[in-house]
Amino acid sequence: MTERHPVILDVDTGIDDSLALLYACASPEVELVAATCVAGNVDARQVAVNTRAVLELADRADVEVALGRETPLVRPLTTTPETHGPRGIGYAELPPPSRPLSRRHAVDLLVDEARRRPGELTLVALGPLTNVALAALREPELPVLLRRLVIMGGSYRSPGNTAPTTEWNISVDPDAAAVVFTHFGAPEVQAARKSAGLEPRPLALGLDVTEKAKLTPEHLTALAARAGDDAHAPRTPIVRYLADALRFYMEFHSRYDGFYGAFIHDPLALAAALDPSLVRAEALAVDVELGGILTTGETVTDWRRTWGKPPNLDIAVEADAEAFLARFVERVGDLAARLAWARTL
Ligand code: BDR
Ligand code: CA
Repeated sequence: MTERHPVILDVDTGIDDSLALLYACASPEVELVAATCVAGNVDARQVAVNTRAVLELADRADVEVALGRETPLVRPLTTTPETHGPRGIGYAELPPPSRPLSRRHAVDLLVDEARRRPGELTLVALGPLTNVALAALREPELPVLLRRLVIMGGSYRSPGNTAPTTEWNISVDPDAAAVVFTHFGAPEVQAARKSAGLEPRPLALGLDVTEKAKLTPEHLTALAARAGDDAHAPRTPIVRYLADALRFYMEFHSRYDGFYGAFIHDPLALAAALDPSLVRAEALAVDVELGGILTTGETVTDWRRTWGKPPNLDIAVEADAEAFLARFVERVGDLAARLAWARTL
């Protein structure tokens, strides 16, 4: 029997977030405790609708979904309909979710669950870090209570995807990112985590690594075939969803990034949280630019150790994207097949 890890996904669903939700549902080692919703790709209420609809698509209506903060900590919210579509799931249409939202606020949920299971929970943050920052401000022990925080966000040694040097999740709420990087990377937190036998620092995957996870139409064809389906005329609900959501995402990448395919940032971050051997990381000191004229939201990284400060993040510098993509195709394809089969019984 596979050992299961309790995981909470903090999401701004979003096409690649929805793929991460499906990957979590398809992974035998995941106990999906909850999904917490934050404003980002679309507004937080739409995130909560998308998140529940995708979980229901994966037959996981039982997973608690909590609404979080609806605006960044101090700046106005920007969303990105050109990347993810007006509702965040590209051309896909999903039935409205049948299950209500949690009665808990996302920040309360994060704090309560971390306190209830000290040292056990992995929190994977796939959107702006607003909820995570608020949870750490509410419960200063949060960085010690979690098994690990894994973040998709930042452009540590690559251009940005939002402004020349900034990545989307950090640029939507740079103040929250600064709070998280400071609190979770504090030397006393690292010492406490080490003595509890936990990894001392959060793991962060920036664009140079997540842009290696390029899902192509061929991957989608292989996934559909695994589900006994055809990506061009899909019959199974998950493959149909993927084909419609990804068509939009691939068109976006073909306009802005010069290839017909899609970077699937968020599922790679989740996969690395579940299997850290998929990435190689370096311990580095990172801070967030909050007052730049051109660079607000840049993740300023001390590669040459000029600050002389202790590292506060483990930054992924390499990823085995091929192994990850093969695993994604296999797991989500099998989930699609299993559910399609179950629906015919
Ligand atoms: C990140 O920004 C969002 O658009 C994606 O969902 C991902 O989390 C990549 O920069
Ligand atoms: Ca996201």
